Order: sequence, then structure tokens, then C-alpha cells
Amino acid sequence: MSISTDNWEQVEAAAKASLGDEIVQFIAQCRQEDAGADSHLVAVLHRVQGHFGYLGEEHLDAVAQLLQVPAAKVAGVASFYHYFRLKPRGRFLLSVCMGTACYVKGAERVAQRVMDELGITWGETSKDGLFTLDPSRCLGTCGLAPVVMVEDEVHGNVTPDQVPAILEQYRHRAREQGHA
Ligand code: FES
Repeated sequence: MSISTDNWEQVEAAAKASLGDEIVQFIAQCRQEDAGADSHLVAVLHRVQGHFGYLGEEHLDAVAQLLQVPAAKVAGVASFYHYFRLKPRGRFLLSVCMGTACYVKGAERVAQRVMDELGITWGETSKDGLFTLDPSRCLGTCGLAPVVMVEDEVHGNVTPDQVPAILEQYRHRAREQGHA
């Protein structure tokens, strides 16, 4: 069923409010290309997450409406790929490098210790809202393997037993900055 002009204007206005002009324009460009709306979905979701840091329900609904793709399909793609985050990220993004050099040097045990300490797994945020844990590809500092990155700060040669002190360092920083 086609959308009437009036309805389309309402849909676009609501989506603009949710996504912002820049992303709405990107979606409009995608719709003009021949490849079909489906093929643009991942690119659009990347753009939305790059802007907001995560994909909220309201963002997914707006993307579905503007691309004219079923909402269930958009939600399915967003939840299929681990790099899409469906909830807001924490105060600190903590990445454990799972590249080959780090993996060989024990990154998995470091990641497990982070998970145990924070009570979360990949892609989740700690209950206090401070840490979101993500796996990372090679961070380009293989000589320091295994590597943990917190925001843009690199921690090298990390052992599982060093993880609590690293976390405490950022908790302390958050307290100083008045993070609730
Ligand atoms: S593999 Fe971890 S920094 Fe390169």
C-alpha cells in the first residue's frame, strides 16, 4: 500500500525528530539508488549508531519507516550483528583486543576476568553505568599484547590480575568527575 503525501510528511517529520537531518538525508540518498532498500540497511544502522552511540527502539522504527523495510527486519539485523549496540553505552567504553597477537598472549583470560569483575558479557554495560565491554580487532599495538583499551587509553601487557586495578582507576576518575 502506498503512503499518501500527507502521511509521508508526518512520517518524515517524526523520523527527522528522532534521527536528525543528516541521517534522514543519507537514507533519502539510499532510497534513490537502484540497489533496493534492504541492501542499505546495515550502512544506515552504522550511521545511526555512529551518531547516537547505540540503536534505540525509536531509531529503529524511524529507519524502518524511512527505508520502507518491515520493523521486524530492521530489529533482526540490528540484533544479529554483535557490533550493533541496542542500549546506551556506559561512561567508559572498555575494549579487549581479540586480535591474533593478543589472543595468543591470553586476551581471552583477560576478557573473562573483566566479565567476572563487572558481571557482564560482550556488548553489555555494568550495572553502575560505568563500563561497556566490547571486543576489538587489532588495535595496532601488538607489541603490548594483550591490550585493553579504555576510551582512547591503551593498557598493555595486561594480566587478569591487573584487571581490578584498571577498573578501579576509572571508577576513581568517575567519582572525581561526579558520575552518579
Ligand atoms: S592483536 Fe591486539 S593489538 Fe594487535
